[in-house]
Amino acid sequence: MKISIVGGGYVGLVTSACLADLGHDVTVIDLDPAKVQQINEKNPPLCEEHLEDLLKNTVGKSLHATTRFDSITSSELTILCVGTPRNMDGSADLGFIESASRSIGTALKDARDYHVVVVKSTVPPGTTETVVRPIVLKAAQKKETEIGFVMNPEFLREGLAVTDFMHPDRIVIGGNESRAGDIVAQVYKDIPAPVIRTGTQEAEMIKYASNAFLATKISFSNEIGNVCKHLGIDVYAVMQGVGRDHRIGPQFLNAGAGYGGSCFPKDVSALIALAEQTGEDPVLLKSVQDVNERQPSRMVALLEEKIGVLAGKRIAVLGLAFKDNTDDIRDSRSIPVIRELLDKGAFIIAFDPMAMPNMKQILPEITYAETVADALVGADGCLVMTEWPEFKKIDKEFDCMAHPVIIEGRRILSRKGVVGICWQVGNRP
Ligand code: UDX
Repeated sequence: MKISIVGGGYVGLVTSACLADLGHDVTVIDLDPAKVQQINEKNPPLCEEHLEDLLKNTVGKSLHATTRFDSITSSELTILCVGTPRNMDGSADLGFIESASRSIGTALKDARDYHVVVVKSTVPPGTTETVVRPIVLKAAQKKETEIGFVMNPEFLREGLAVTDFMHPDRIVIGGNESRAGDIVAQVYKDIPAPVIRTGTQEAEMIKYASNAFLATKISFSNEIGNVCKHLGIDVYAVMQGVGRDHRIGPQFLNAGAGYGGSCFPKDVSALIALAEQTGEDPVLLKSVQDVNERQPSRMVALLEEKIGVLAGKRIAVLGLAFKDNTDDIRDSRSIPVIRELLDKGAFIIAFDPMAMPNMKQILPEITYAETVADALVGADGCLVMTEWPEFKKIDKEFDCMAHPVIIEGRRILSRKGVVGICWQVGNRP
């Protein structure tokens, strides 16, 4: 199928490369000429496993990148993959959705055949029908019957996005017109996964509710963990037992410093704002958010408990990315921790295998170490904030600390004497 993708970010580029690899003829459209050039030079503008190979196999053959929207006119289907950042009040900002919809509509003015517009961006329920459809139809000067609209959410995890795209748990196709839904089902015909055909709004809400539920599992585990810590119980052993219940499942029960990233914090906020707009008081979702916002301070409080006043102390922070296998620091839990340490007059030396360039953009005032060992030398305390597998190997480096006080926000170390944010050291299995 001839497919246009609007937005060459995480979702857009991974979707483009995967669909091109599946044999579709794909054009990815992005307003950033530098990014377009990088893609056309088979040089991935973001780090994702397998993405470089996919670009090598497809660019110049089934995949092209451009800043121009006119490729849409001759394509059968356009997938909208632009960002929906957060407004000050926590609601979703639809500015990029609106401008992209206008550009798509304008390009479709000259289209002769039936076309399908697919929304893949995470958008509040109602957006596809009440924002995208009217803007596109008006700009295209087309009748309802000439363009179909479908909502087809993605569930991609950063770092594993290509794998998640090619091996999804389900494909959700939300649309009120079966013709458009059938065409989208054809796009995914070579991906073996259950297909859920539902309404447009249901599809939009499936995305939000899925992310909010995963965030709830994490905050629940953190709350249980916080209680377990007082009782000397190992929350990981507890969650292993809990997760064996097939109605619960073992995934996303790892207690720690909280969830970060470009999705969970933003989507939980957007869902809270949405609920309040309906007049509902989303007490559960607000609690999920509160638990998450409090966890970072627990790291600092534990450190103070162990080493006293932080002013003038040298503190090592290991891990800046919001999770391992990415350089992404958006809403990373390490940020509020570092800010609180700075407010308390501590001197910070940080290390991360990938995310230091990004963190230097927002926290230039702290020191960045070349290695883990450099970060730990002479440190009065250490906070572990990201679950990087290579941190498992750290051991003798801790001996170079001035005071070997190590607080773990992610269960990753195997060294005796480590204090867990919500687990006890001694009773590790
Ligand atoms: C998430 C969803 O998993 C994905 O389906 C959706 O499309 C986008 O949002 P991502 O943001 O890449 O993906 O991160 P994920 O791997 O889900 O981790 C999110 C955060 O939760 C990270 O900060 C991670 O450290 C934390 N986490 C995850 C926990 O604290 N405990 C867990 O058990 C799992």
